[in-house]
This record gives sequence, structure tokens and C-alpha cells, in this order.
Amino acid sequence: MDNKFKRTLITTALPYANGPVHIGHLAGVYVPADIYARYLRLQGREVLLIGGSDEHGVPITIRARKEGITPQDVVDRYHSLIKESFAGLGISFDIYSRTTSDVHAETASEFFRHIYDKGGFVEKSSMQFYDEGAGRFVTDRNVVGECPVCHAPGAYGDQCEKCGSSLSATELINPRCAETGNIPVLRETFHWYLPLDRWQPELQRWILDGHKEWRTNVYGQCKSWLDLGLQPRAVTRDLDWGIPVPVEGADGKVLYVWFDAPIGYISNTKELLPDSWERWWKDPETRIVNFIGKDNIVFHCIIFPAMLLAYGDGYQLPDNVPSNEFLNLEGDKISTSRNWAVWLHEYLRDFPGKQDVLRYVLTANAPETKDNDFTWADFQARNNNELVAVLGNFVNRALVLTHKYFDGRVPADGEPQDVDRQLAADLSAAVASLTESLEGFHFREALRQAMEIARLGNRYLQETEPWKLAKTDLARTGGILNTALQLCANLAVAFEPFMPFMSAKLAGMLGLGTISWDMLGRTDIIAAGTQLAAPELLFDKIEDEAVAAQLQRLADTKQANLEAAWRPAEQQPDVDFDTFCRSDLRVGTVLECARVPKADKLLRFLIDDGTGKPRTIVSGIAKSYPEPEALVGRQVLFIANLPARKLRGIESQGMLLSAEDKDGRLVLATVSDAVAPGAQVK
Ligand code: 2FM
Ligand code: ZN
Repeated sequence: MDNKFKRTLITTALPYANGPVHIGHLAGVYVPADIYARYLRLQGREVLLIGGSDEHGVPITIRARKEGITPQDVVDRYHSLIKESFAGLGISFDIYSRTTSDVHAETASEFFRHIYDKGGFVEKSSMQFYDEGAGRFVTDRNVVGECPVCHAPGAYGDQCEKCGSSLSATELINPRCAETGNIPVLRETFHWYLPLDRWQPELQRWILDGHKEWRTNVYGQCKSWLDLGLQPRAVTRDLDWGIPVPVEGADGKVLYVWFDAPIGYISNTKELLPDSWERWWKDPETRIVNFIGKDNIVFHCIIFPAMLLAYGDGYQLPDNVPSNEFLNLEGDKISTSRNWAVWLHEYLRDFPGKQDVLRYVLTANAPETKDNDFTWADFQARNNNELVAVLGNFVNRALVLTHKYFDGRVPADGEPQDVDRQLAADLSAAVASLTESLEGFHFREALRQAMEIARLGNRYLQETEPWKLAKTDLARTGGILNTALQLCANLAVAFEPFMPFMSAKLAGMLGLGTISWDMLGRTDIIAAGTQLAAPELLFDKIEDEAVAAQLQRLADTKQANLEAAWRPAEQQPDVDFDTFCRSDLRVGTVLECARVPKADKLLRFLIDDGTGKPRTIVSGIAKSYPEPEALVGRQVLFIANLPARKLRGIESQGMLLSAEDKDGRLVLATVSDAVAPGAQVK
């Protein structure tokens, strides 16, 4: 870190309080931010980790209306859930507050008013959709209609998800309000805009010239915005949920959620440190780092900085804005509305005591440079093959051997041999890379380096084999175990930012008091003669059943989504009666039914069709009928007069009728009472 800075203010994007937090949020923002904060604290640097819930915005009002409760009820529920689950995972916020707090209302109001008084906004009128039935304006997102580009139905007023076109709601064909189904009308309104164009030269200098070191995804997005030329952005909305615009004649208007939310970082600092918060925001010796997801880049790198510049008064701009890409779940995009997520509060319930496993897996697989996938198989493999087999195993061997040969008392160190000198050199190299990676926000690589220390430990024990030496040379055995225990102490420090629960447990077993980053690399951390506590396992295996239960839950979710999305197929164009009558539909009785070899969808039926000569029909319903023999004796309906055709070399003489259920399952059509085989269906 640059020495010109005395302290670091770390902020984490404020999650919307309209749903619980999931692994995508954690991997993108909260776990990396916590790692960074913990690392700086171990370095003894002055640091604050600021968080809170984002409690305004339209989606919260929609949710409230749907559930028949107030927006405040919605945010109260989720704010508590989110706050508790972050604490459960060990995210070490100095404060986790909320944007419905009084301090925030005052701070955000004052922020707007100050810019307003300086002439920092422009006021503009525009035509906006209005729902007369509901008596309110509707945002573009909440208007749906036919896409003017690809003509798909159900396009949103800001974007068509079918063809990806960016839209404005007034372009939609046959627009409707998404919530009420009413036809919206255009009505004039006015808003205050932040003229980003005024700040273009300054932002350009600050980012494009001054921060070439930012992650390429962040720098690249900023550059394309700046290259396009910044436009004024509306910072107020016609809504009744939010912070009222503190200006005469602004009745019914509130601050736009993206105007008030980032000010939340300031309000929360103020709430924590009412007397000294300004030091954290206005002193050039403070370094501000915003951890965010990639969908938040423009708000943090362009709009919020423009707000800070417009306010003036010494507010500092962020020094870095580390932003991750997205994490997918089992190959699909994480989605709150489709319940396709691993929710933190559920994880904490289902895997008690395994907070560090999740922190580890999310970091080892963090979407730092590209989107990544979380799978339960990978979760299990990393726990069993890395945490248990590498880290846990090394620590356990060092401790158990010390208890076995030295009654748990740290033996004296001996004369270093080549293997010890090599180990010390490898340890220094790993520690140097670990520190460098953390400084550069490369947390995946940093974690790999921390794990490297455990690998070094296993290799060291493998090479020196103290369990064999113990019979002949107890002094050398003691020297080796002393070194192994010093490595364990290094692990307690190196892993603290990543896995604080494990680190505390390990430090406890080793009798370490306070730990600090400067202990790393040393091989004299624990004094000889120290009595160690009884060894306990740091990790245990995750069994197949636990993973299967999670996969089952996801499969159930997928099924429920399919069913919820099901609609009867569109009616086909009319056929004339004579054409219909030419189809010869009949009843048959199944004589035989078997799978067609090497065709997983096909079943081969022999049907009694009343002619005395069994009819063969091949049907693509094998997936719906896993036990074909059970169909023998059933009556089925078939079309008799289709031209015969060959399927997998078998001539099929007709087609069975079946209905497709919501989940894609095919169900054979039949008659409600037994009839003679060959009877015609009319
Ligand atoms: O995208 C989101 O989830 C926003 N609630 C993030 C806000 S970040 C900050 F500005 F508060
Ligand atoms: Zn379209």
C-alpha cells in the first residue's frame, strides 16, 4: 500500500433489503472485503469496514404491495436477517447499519441540499408513464409490452430480454403497467439532474490517467462510459418510498435510490464515529476502497464520484474499486426471483460450524477476472481434498506427534539442517507472494499461497519422518516438531483473513495470544516448553448425503420454476371438419412393451388392434415410463392411418397419443372404460 496513506476506509456495496444474501453477493463483495479488512488489521493498520442495507427503491415497494405489508416491514425483516447472517459468517463490519436510519436521512438530505444550493443540479421536465388507476408514476422497468425491435411480448420498458435491446418505456407497443395491468398514460413531470458532463474532464483525468492500476473490467467499463460522453442523470423520482427531496415544491418526490445509497457509506461512518468521521472521508491521508459487484461499477466510479466532486468540501474519491464478475450456481445464473441461489442463512443452518468452508470455497473459486461457477461437488472436493487432507492433516500430525512424544510440550529447536533451511526459504517466498497478492486484491492467489504453507509442512514431515526418528534421535525429532509447530503458527496467521474461525481455534490450541502479520515467516513464534492444548480436528469430511440434499433442493427449485412458468400451448390454426375426420383414431391393448436398445427415448409396443395381427408402434415416451413392462394390458389410443415409418430400424405402424404435463412428462391417453381392441374413437 502506498505510504502516503495513514488509514483505509473499506466500504461494501449495500445489499437491497428485499431478500436474503446469497453466495453471489458473498463471493463478489463481502468475503473479499472482509479478507482485506482483516489483513490490514493484522498489519496493525488503521482500518474501518463499513456496511449496511440499501432500503429504498421501487422493488421494495412492489414486494410490500404484493405481500400486503409496508415497505418498512419488508426492510425490517430482511435487514435483520442479512445483518445476522453476515455476523454468522464472520464478516467483521465495524458497523452494519441501514439507509432508513435517522442519521442517513439527515446526511443524504443535507448532501442533496448542499449541491442544490451550490447550483450543482439542473431541473428538467419530461413525459413519464403514469398509472391513473393506482395514482402513481411507473418506472420504465415496471412497464411491459411488445418489443418494438423483435416484437416479442413481455419486454420491459428499459430492456427487451429476448433480443437484448435497450428501450425506453414509451417505445413499447401496447404498454401495460406490470403490477396492475392498467394502460399507462403519459404525464409531464420534472426532476433534478446531476450534470455528469460538467465533471467529465475531471473524472477522465482521475480514472483514465490516474488509475490505470484498477482491475481491467472496472477501468474498461469506465472508459467506455467516458468515451461515449457523460450525460446528466436524474437523481430524484416520483415515489412515496425514499428520502423526501428537501426543496420547496418537491412534494411526492424522493431521492433516487442510487443517489442516497452510496451516501449510506458516509452516514454509517458518521453513525459509528459521530466526532471523527470526517477524518475518514475528507483527509487526503485516508485511502477509500469500495468493494462492489460488476453491475455497480458506473455508480461507484462515475456517479458517486461526481456527487462527491459536486459537493466539494474536501471529500476524497476512492483509491480503488475492486469489483468482481458474477458467480453462477451449478451452471445457471443466480437469481433471487427464481430462488436459484445458496442463501447464506440457510447455509449457516445446514452446515453449522462450517463458515470457513464456505469462505474458503468462495475465495478459491472467486470470480475475480471472469464469471465462475459454484457447484456442490467442488465444495465437497475442496473441503475433503484440501481443507481436510492438506491443511487439517498437517496441523493434526504436528500436534498429535508433539503430544505423543513430548506430552504436548513444545520441544526445543535444534541445529538447522539443509531441509530446514530449504523450508525457511520456501516459507519466506510463500509469505512474500501472499502479502503481495493481498495488497493487489488478488485474493484467490493469496489463498493459494497460504495453502502452500500447509503443503510445505506436509512435505517437510514426509521428508523428515519424525515418527521414525523418535526411536533413535529424540532431540532431532523435537527439532523437527518445533519447526512443524512454528509452521502451524504461521498458518494461524496466514489464514486468519480467509478463515477466521479456524485460525482462532488453531491459535488457541497453540497457546498463541494476539497474532499479527509480522509473525509470518518466523520460525520462533512459539517458545519451547509451551504446553499445548489437546488437539482437535480443524475440519471434517463433508459426506455425499449432505451434498445430495443440497442438489435435491436445487432440483426441486428447478421443478417448481418449470411448473410456475407453465402455460397451455397456443391453440393451433383451425382444421376443417373433413380433414379432421380423415384421422383414424383407435383403441388398442398393449401386448408387449420394451425399450429400444441404444435409444433412451424410445419404447417399442406390440398392440392388439382387433385385426388378429399385432401392430408395432414405436413411441418416444421412454423417459416418462421407466418400467415399460408395467404397461402390458393397458388400453391406449393411437392413430391408425399414418404412413408407416422406420425408427431405429423398426417399422412403426401409427402413433400413440399422449399429453405433455407441466414438467415435460408424457402421459398416455386412454379410454375411461374397457372397450374392444380396434374400436374407433369418434
Ligand atoms: O446493486 C445493489 O444491490 C445495490 N443495493 C448496491 C448499492 S451500493 C451503494 F451504493 F450503496
Ligand atoms: Zn426485443
